[in-house]
Amino acid sequence: MSLWNKHAIFEKNSILLLIGVLIVISIGGLVEIAPLFYLKSTIEKVEGIRPYTPLELAGRNIYVREGCYTCHSQMIRALRDEVERYGHYSLAAESMYDHPFQWGSKRNGPDLARVGNKYSDDWQRRHLENPRAVVPGSIMPAYPWLAKTDVDLTHIDQEMKVLSMEGVPYTPEMIEKASIDAKAQAVDDDPNAADLVKRYPKAQARAYGEKGRITEADALIAYLQQLGTQVDFKLYDGKANLR
Ligand code: HEC
Repeated sequence: MSLWNKHAIFEKNSILLLIGVLIVISIGGLVEIAPLFYLKSTIEKVEGIRPYTPLELAGRNIYVREGCYTCHSQMIRALRDEVERYGHYSLAAESMYDHPFQWGSKRNGPDLARVGNKYSDDWQRRHLENPRAVVPGSIMPAYPWLAKTDVDLTHIDQEMKVLSMEGVPYTPEMIEKASIDAKAQAVDDDPNAADLVKRYPKAQARAYGEKGRITEADALIAYLQQLGTQVDFKLYDGKANLR
């Protein structure tokens, strides 16, 4: 009996075929999945990645609350057209402190993974107030209440505590100074801004909007302005860069 004929055993007996299929699939599964249980982390450490500042975290909450993720992804794929449009493809480390992550699955609007510092604060504020004012024909909804509502920072330290239980490296000091840091980031030349930047490298501290109050729009813009800016890709040029 040639090898070819032996295969007929499987073709004529559906139960044997099913068992054969299961055995072959489980070998594939074992090879792919089992090693993951023995790795401490599947995320490669990348220089520059830090947790969100209290103000950015508050802005992220508004991003989630308003459902921005229903139209915007935050995940640039390693495909040439995406990299040419949005910048370096997203790294796993860039969303390692996002709980839950905001990769999204829909792009009615552009990907936002690297929108940080692409526009001025003023552009962002006017765009949230009324997208048509800066992008004629935009189908994005207007969010005029954000600039009129003071951001609620009363529980931000407790939220950081919960995130630290989930593995975000917030130190007791960061949690204790949460409201000081939030205020220091939202105004020009705050005396505590230097401490903030020490705790959160590259944190952008300035008045994001109207002076004398911190609105939901300010927090959201602080969050948007740092998206995708933590990693200095010049350090990796030639290694991880597609272009
Ligand atoms: C109904 C879908 C939809 C929702 C919901 C939505 N957007 Fe958009 N967004 C768009 C579209 C379409 C564009 C492109 C046109 C424009 O710039 O207005 C856009 C553009 C943007 C841009 C500019 C991106 C770039 O690179 O030019 C930003 C920033 C942005 N949106 C932020 C937000 C935020 C923050 C929220 C939630 C408060 C939000 N969007 C909710 C559809 C949406």
